[in-house]
Amino acid sequence: MNNVFYGKLIFELSREGRRGYSLPKNELASYSMTDMPNALLREQDPGLPEVDELTVVRHYTNMSNNNFGVDTGYYPLGSCTMKYNPKINEEIAVHRAFTGLHPLQDIDTVQGALEVYYKLQQSLATLAGMKEFTLNPYAGAHGELTGLMVMRSYHASRGDDKRTKVIVPDSAHGTNPASAAVCGLDVVVVKSRPDGTVDVDDLRPLLDDTIAGMMMTNPNTLGIFEHSIAEIAKLVHDCGGLMYYDGANLNPMLGKVRPGDIGFDIMHINLHKTFSTPHGGGGPGSGPVGVREGLEQFLPSPRVIRIDGDDDCYEYNIDFGKDSLGSISGFLGNFGVMMRAYTYILTLGRDQVKNVGPLATLNANYIKESLKDVYELPIEGVCKHEFVFDGLKDKSTGVTTLDVAKRLLDYGYHAPTIYFPLLFHEALMIEPTENESKETLDGFIDVMRKIAQEAKDDPEMVKSAPHTTPVRRLDDTKAALHPIVTYRELAAEQ
Ligand SMILES: Cc1ncc(COP(=O)(O)O)c(C=O)c1O
Repeated sequence: MNNVFYGKLIFELSREGRRGYSLPKNELASYSMTDMPNALLREQDPGLPEVDELTVVRHYTNMSNNNFGVDTGYYPLGSCTMKYNPKINEEIAVHRAFTGLHPLQDIDTVQGALEVYYKLQQSLATLAGMKEFTLNPYAGAHGELTGLMVMRSYHASRGDDKRTKVIVPDSAHGTNPASAAVCGLDVVVVKSRPDGTVDVDDLRPLLDDTIAGMMMTNPNTLGIFEHSIAEIAKLVHDCGGLMYYDGANLNPMLGKVRPGDIGFDIMHINLHKTFSTPHGGGGPGSGPVGVREGLEQFLPSPRVIRIDGDDDCYEYNIDFGKDSLGSISGFLGNFGVMMRAYTYILTLGRDQVKNVGPLATLNANYIKESLKDVYELPIEGVCKHEFVFDGLKDKSTGVTTLDVAKRLLDYGYHAPTIYFPLLFHEALMIEPTENESKETLDGFIDVMRKIAQEAKDDPEMVKSAPHTTPVRRLDDTKAALHPIVTYRELAAEQ
């Protein structure tokens, strides 16, 4: 690439004496350095890069252009990693009225923020069919742990200390068994039927008085609605267990089906997925936990409560309930993510929120049906917001799911989720989300078909993709086992 900025660190662009910024006059010039403890004094100037403004602008703009973003291209791995997040969410969340707040401020001075917090708790409870929510957990997995702690507190409060096991389907996201283990519970796996749903016959013999509860996501990680949910919930309740809903897949249910109405007692929502916060690359997140009536006293502290006043004038306060399981986060959680979620909910409103689920479902089925003659569809039928192919239909070319994912990069698309869930050898999971246009979906379908054809005509070319990206195919294992994360090491290697 013929660009002097390409692949360089800002330090390599540094030239002695070059300046792009003048610091304001030092108002403390008269302050004697001798008053400063020696340990705090610098012995030499910091090694900052010396660059002009234009170099800085080009350097960072070039870097940002090397990064794939939802503002520049389509992600076929949807709400789970990145769906489009309306800009208004950002504008509101970064408003100084909110970012300038400090969690230790006097309660009287943060009434507005507490009102937002309280109203978001209520909106989520309405959308999910739960009695109450805590917004304290920082992520989906953190919500799972919190929800399981509520489950444990519930059994402990009844003196039922035999219940030490949690049932998890073999199709579950890895965080489900991990959270159960972190919570000190033993994991019991229930098998799936060939159609991808929980095998009720396999479940029955697992149920006894050692079962604390069962974790499920619905639709499951294959995008299939668990149609036996009513029967499953009854079986688990009859044996004294509680039903936990992993709400990472709430998208297709939004405004249509409420977990609280189909038998779940405890749940979390990934605000950063369903309710629109950019989180690809690991953060930030928020995993509010909701509970049905009778479990709210176990939720973590602190909680925001409303004290009813006169003439529709309310005050908000912070409560530390005596039966609460205690604190699971610093202060009240990740407020910026909550602001984005609340803005998103208010922007959609009561009527539009009902369109999220059907549109996410329609888009997923449209792609599935348009590609299933060239990609292997292991589970036929109507899916919800996502579905899984088991690689290319024609296996004779030797082109794998990884190769298809890499080749997509050459066409300017982000790769879908690959090799998850673990039920299929060549899993390729596609989640288009509700907010992509038909033209975008058609463009993606065309490219996927083109790659299937290339796999037949020139398999070696597909197997060595990507060909047009700044970095070619990486050795994933080496990158994971021996990452070079410092400039010095990189320089020493060369
Ligand atoms: C089905 C499911 N459950 C739980 C999680 C965990 O959520 P988080 O990444 O916010 O911890 C995910 C995230 O990918 C998920 O897809």
